[in-house]
Amino acid sequence: MIAIDVHLDADAAATMARDVRLGLCAYPKELAPKYFYDERGSRLFERITELDEYYPTRAEREILAARSAEILAVAGRPGTLVELGSGSASKTRHLLDAMRDGGALDTYVPVDISVEITERTAAELVDEYPGLAVRGLVCDFERDLERIPAQDPSRIVAFLGGTIGNLYPRPRQEFLERIAALLGPADHLLLGTDLIKETARLEAAYNDAAGVTAEFNKNVLAVLNSELGADFDLDAFEHVARYDAEAERMDIRLRSLADQLVRLDGLDLEVPFAAGEEMRTEISTKFTRERLESVYAGAGLELSGWFTDAAGDYALSLARPV
Ligand code: TRP
Repeated sequence: MIAIDVHLDADAAATMARDVRLGLCAYPKELAPKYFYDERGSRLFERITELDEYYPTRAEREILAARSAEILAVAGRPGTLVELGSGSASKTRHLLDAMRDGGALDTYVPVDISVEITERTAAELVDEYPGLAVRGLVCDFERDLERIPAQDPSRIVAFLGGTIGNLYPRPRQEFLERIAALLGPADHLLLGTDLIKETARLEAAYNDAAGVTAEFNKNVLAVLNSELGADFDLDAFEHVARYDAEAERMDIRLRSLADQLVRLDGLDLEVPFAAGEEMRTEISTKFTRERLESVYAGAGLELSGWFTDAAGDYALSLARPV
C-alpha cells in the first residue's frame, strides 16, 4: 500500500527570493544551505559522501549495518519508521530489515522535499518488503513537521545524516521541541550526529583534495544565477571550511577574491562584495555525548541509547520524551 501526501510550498520561488535578499543584505552575508540542493548540487553531495575524507556517511552506515537490531530493541520494537529527509532511503533499509526480521515491520513514513524520489523509493520498498505500508509525506519538514500522522502505537522517528548539526542552537532546540511534541510515550527519536575530533580531520572532511566540496559550495551561486537571474562569477569566489572550536562547529563560507558588484535581476538588487569578504553558506555542528544530552534536556527529551561506529567518529542516539 502506498499513499503519498504532497504539501509543497506554492510560493517556493517567493520564499527563496526573500531568503536570499535577507541573506545578501545582512552583515555578515549568509545563504541558507537548502539552496545547495538543485539537481547538480544533489549529485555533487552524493560524490562528497563517497570521498575518502568525508567519513560521516560511511560511519553512519556502519552503525546501522551492525546495530539496527539493537537500536530497535532499545526503542521497544516499533512497527512504524518515520524518516525525516528520507531521499533514496539507502541507509534506512538496514532499519527496515531489522524491523522485518523482528516481526514488527508495519509502516514506513518517508518525509522528503522531492515528489519524484519519494514515489520511486516507495515503489521500490513495497516490492522489497511485502506487506509494508508506505505513507509518504512530501513537504519541507522544518515547516510541516506537524503534518506527520500520529496514528500508530509505537514509532521510531529517524533524522539521519547529521543534518541537525546544520541548525543554529535556537532553531535546533525549537525543532527538537517540535519533535518531542510529536512523540508519544512509547516513541523514540533516532538522531545522527557527527562527533568532535581532531581539527585536521574535520577540516579535511569539508575541504577534500579533489575539490568536490569546493564545487558543491560554489554551486549555490550557480543556483542563484539560474533561479534569480544573478551574475555571480564562480571563479571570483573561493571555498573556505574552518573548524570553530569555541562554537564546536564547521564554518563553511565563500570568500570573494576581488572587489566586485553582483547583480540579481530577479531581485532587482545589486550586492557589493569586498576582496576577502566571506559569506557563510553552512554550519555543521559537532557533538559530544554530554553536549547532546544537554541539548536533548533543553528540548524535553532524554537520551536513551548511544551507538557509535568502531572508530568513535559518529553517533546515532535514541531519545524519548521526558
Ligand atoms: N549535512 C552535511 C554536513 O554537515 C552537509 C555538507 C557536507 C556540506 N559537506 C558540505 C555543506 C560542504 C556545505 C559544504 O556534513
